[in-house]
Amino acid sequence: CGIIARIGQGEAAETLLSGLENLEYRGYDSAGIAVQNGSGVKVHKTSGEVSDLKSSLDTRPHGNMGIGHTRWSTHGPPTDENAHPHTDTAGDVAVVHNGVIDNYDELRTELGEKGHEFESDTDTEVIPHLIDEYLGTVDDTEEAVRRAVDTLDGSYAIAAIVDGEERVYAARKGSPLVLGLDEAEWYLASDVPAFLDHTDEVIYLEDGDLVVLEPDSYRITDLAGNPVDRPVDTVDWDPEDAGKGGYDHYMLKEIHGQPTALSNTIEGRIDDGDVALDALSPGTFEDVETVQFVACGTSYHAAMYGAQLLRAADVRTDVLRASEYDSMAGPVDEDTLVVAVTQSGETADTLDALRTGADRGARTLAVTNVVGSTAAREADDAVYIRAGPEVGVAATKTYSSQAVTLALLTQRIAGDVPDATPHGDRAAMLETLADLPQQVETVLETTDAEALAEEFLDSQSYFFIGNGLGHSVALEGALKFKEITYEHAEGFASGQLKHGPLALVTEASPVIAVSTGSDDDKTRTNAIEAQSRGAPIVAVGPDDHPLVDVADAHLSVPETHPVWAGLLANVQLQLLSYHAAKLLDRPIDKPRNLAKSVTVE
Ligand code: G6P
Repeated sequence: CGIIARIGQGEAAETLLSGLENLEYRGYDSAGIAVQNGSGVKVHKTSGEVSDLKSSLDTRPHGNMGIGHTRWSTHGPPTDENAHPHTDTAGDVAVVHNGVIDNYDELRTELGEKGHEFESDTDTEVIPHLIDEYLGTVDDTEEAVRRAVDTLDGSYAIAAIVDGEERVYAARKGSPLVLGLDEAEWYLASDVPAFLDHTDEVIYLEDGDLVVLEPDSYRITDLAGNPVDRPVDTVDWDPEDAGKGGYDHYMLKEIHGQPTALSNTIEGRIDDGDVALDALSPGTFEDVETVQFVACGTSYHAAMYGAQLLRAADVRTDVLRASEYDSMAGPVDEDTLVVAVTQSGETADTLDALRTGADRGARTLAVTNVVGSTAAREADDAVYIRAGPEVGVAATKTYSSQAVTLALLTQRIAGDVPDATPHGDRAAMLETLADLPQQVETVLETTDAEALAEEFLDSQSYFFIGNGLGHSVALEGALKFKEITYEHAEGFASGQLKHGPLALVTEASPVIAVSTGSDDDKTRTNAIEAQSRGAPIVAVGPDDHPLVDVADAHLSVPETHPVWAGLLANVQLQLLSYHAAKLLDRPIDKPRNLAKSVTVE
């Protein structure tokens, strides 16, 4: 979910609505705002997207302060009633919330017994009722909010307004919240793009912080009421970066943004044939014996890419789905390095794995796109992928930048860990990396992905296979395809196709085979096995690959080092997914049921 609040001179509604549009990548099941102008708290909310909310408003409600929310459902379906903001029975306290309240059931029962009436299925609705309940016992609203927040178990970023008060109250625990400081107005939001059009001066709030915004002042305290000092940071993202820039979709813009993103990722990080990575100086990792990558979704596939390279350097390496870390991590101690790979730095499952690793004694490192994110702040060290803001729910440029950052990181680690063997032809590998941005450009200019997407549009299923580094690319290709086309797509290690999935192969299930120029023999053999059962084969990789001769179609990528070829193949797969989704008329930037930043477990 995405939340926003604003207080200052002038009208709040338009700013809240445009802020919500910029946060829609966090959820788009329903949307709402509440404003107040001294004559009551006015709530407007609806199921559907922010555009539906806008068109449901004949005029913009009047008031200089308010809160807003765009929802990704956890408790209760996306109905009008379940949309935020939620209020107390009298409608005097309005609250927006991101997170999950674990004890909402018992609170709801207790409050119900005291006469509070509930209208929704959400966990959030207990919060305004709790504030209202405490307002009956203490004079000071800030104290009532503090007590309410203290009663909640679970995770939250909350913003609240109360009838008759020119104040916004907010609190955070486990869900992101950032304060934006403009000359004449203050903002609170789940993420910076919400207010980047207005200001780049921010304060990243921490767990346990409670904030009170007034038109000309703000204060941050802990839950005991003691003042807390948080530094003001300047964000270096350009508001222009957050727009569509003339493209039909953010996703296409971001696919085309990869040459620039990759140039930024690489810049200054290859120094005289060696890798220089932010604050990670040579020797940093000399005590590391095992590396555990933890990540979710697309970031997990980037982590697989990095893990594969680290294993090739003889470093003991695991790659774990963050949601399974608790039960699957195995032995962890101070010689373990846990690397959290997370574009947003806010994915709840990944943060949980990072914290569990730290609790068990591991050293931690965040690889992320977002400066000031929770992962960046909580990990012992952070390395930034420098991809710039990504809005499309389906990750594209952040995957490429993550994979390259991780490849560089693995060389840094392998240079330090005793008995590790950095990549055999490391010099050649690092040298060819400089050409990657231009080679991505070549793919973008020459791709046949659109024609191919059309040719195979009536297929029943799409199977993606690859071996070695190509395996993680195949998995990412299938994930992207299913996310935005809603067609059945699966990724497999090439050699596994014959151990079950082959039963599904027909002439209506193209097999899209990724080659990288290394470890590809199995991919060729297994693709041919599928072809002899009728499946059309699409080879994705360099022209000279032996699979190209037998394939029914080919998406070509320039010759490069095998370590980078998979990333070029991935660009072809991104385009294949994009064009198939476009031909199928899917809502590409906002696929159903998904959100870009999943801040609940
Ligand atoms: C969500 C998004 C995915 C993303 C994953 C991890 O599931 O829909 O696109 O890969 O979260 O996000 P992160 O910000 O941790 O990289």
